[in-house]
Amino acid sequence: MNLEVVILAAGQGTRMKSKLPKVLHPLAGKTLLSHVICSAQELGAAAIHVVVGHGAELVKDSTAISNLNWVIQEQQLGTGHAVAQAIASIGEDSTVLVLYGDVPLTSAQTLTDLLQKVDARSMALLTVQLADPSGYGRIIRDSEGQIKAIVEEKDATAEQRQISEGNTGILAVSSRKLKEWLPRLSTNNAQAEYYLTDIIAMAVAEDMQINAVTAQTEQEVQGINSRQQLADLERWHQKQLANQLMLQGVTLADPARLDIRGEVSVEQDIFIDANVLLEGKVSIGEGSRIGPNVVIKNTVIGAGVNIFANSVIENAEIESGCQIGPFARLRPGTRLAQGAKIGNFVETKNAFIGIGSKVNHLSYVGDAELGKEVNIGAGTITCNYDGANKFKTEIGNGVFVGSNTALVAPIKIGENATIGAGSTLSRDVEPNTLVVARAITRVIEGWRRPTKKK
Ligand code: UD1
Ligand code: MG
Repeated sequence: MNLEVVILAAGQGTRMKSKLPKVLHPLAGKTLLSHVICSAQELGAAAIHVVVGHGAELVKDSTAISNLNWVIQEQQLGTGHAVAQAIASIGEDSTVLVLYGDVPLTSAQTLTDLLQKVDARSMALLTVQLADPSGYGRIIRDSEGQIKAIVEEKDATAEQRQISEGNTGILAVSSRKLKEWLPRLSTNNAQAEYYLTDIIAMAVAEDMQINAVTAQTEQEVQGINSRQQLADLERWHQKQLANQLMLQGVTLADPARLDIRGEVSVEQDIFIDANVLLEGKVSIGEGSRIGPNVVIKNTVIGAGVNIFANSVIENAEIESGCQIGPFARLRPGTRLAQGAKIGNFVETKNAFIGIGSKVNHLSYVGDAELGKEVNIGAGTITCNYDGANKFKTEIGNGVFVGSNTALVAPIKIGENATIGAGSTLSRDVEPNTLVVARAITRVIEGWRRPTKKK
């Protein structure tokens, strides 16, 4: 099957009350539209046509996915009109799947089921059983249960409005038929729009079979119209993501207080405390513990790592057995070797911390490479920046840096050297030496402070 997907995303989304086009609002850290495009890619679509109108340029520029065919719909004259804008770029022998830029969470399984029910002589329609079908087009079936038409709510009789089976709008049909039917749509209806749904009656008139697939949940076909709906769907989705983690052996202090905005891979017996945010690609090794209020983005974490409360970690690699925080900030390029310790109020950036090394309190370590078993005292700063350029600090195995030391880079500290507290060092230190670079203490006995004249 040569699959081509058309994604309708031209609407304004007035009810969002936003300058941002609706499909650019994020759900789980990804725009609504990106969710839909990713689903289309997962299905192996040969082409993806995205119909845009309101905020078209912004939508295009904000969607960093290549190989999309952007189609402009200048005026929003209805869903049928929207698909018609893309039809010229669709092949003669394709299967067309219509998706919506504001319906982000349809499962790959549901869409695969739908695509199994379409061929040259039948089309497939995704429907949903609704507790409250208001707003939806209703599915009209005959006495044998065959689908005969879709009636929009505004065109429906009181009796038709009782029907609880709603049209999700998602459908699959051969391009050949679509090319035949779209030019025949009219605006002869309550909204004076070209309804895509009118092709159902055309198919029925040609004795084509309409196969329905029913959505597993209302949420997987939920379209977003308001910020409230967006928040509700986000919570639902987060609950699903939390459930997936628990099924893989992760304990969550509170599944409702974890947010995943990306892809998380986990091993068994991980514990995640309340209010944790995981963004981008995060992987966590066996038995690791993440404390409360921790933010982790694009980071690889080994086994048995302990991250204490209120730490913020981005683009880092953390080997097994490390301890981090509370209140640590690991910025991009931080690499912690096995068993390293980063304590409270420590900031690291572009820094390698060797096996078993410790930076326990109140330090800044940037553009630095530390060997094994190094001890960095409280208040140590790598002075890596002269206002224009960055310089590197290299610290050998077993070095002991006393508290409140400023290491003015570029600088190398040789193995097993000891730096006295309060030193400001601006040149290299030889291995196995003690360096103290601070003012010598002067004591003046009987010193009298100046006094004010009366
Ligand atoms: C549509 C269906 C209805 C279904 C409902 C499900 C039609 C005629 N009706 O109704 O049966 O129950 O979806 O939510 O298809 N769009 C464009 N260009 C347009 C018009 C719409 O891109 O000219 C996009 C919108 O941005 C939106 C989607 O298509 O994402 C649906 O349009 P909307 O006007 O909301 O359709 P409904 O009236 O809800
Ligand atoms: Mg409408």
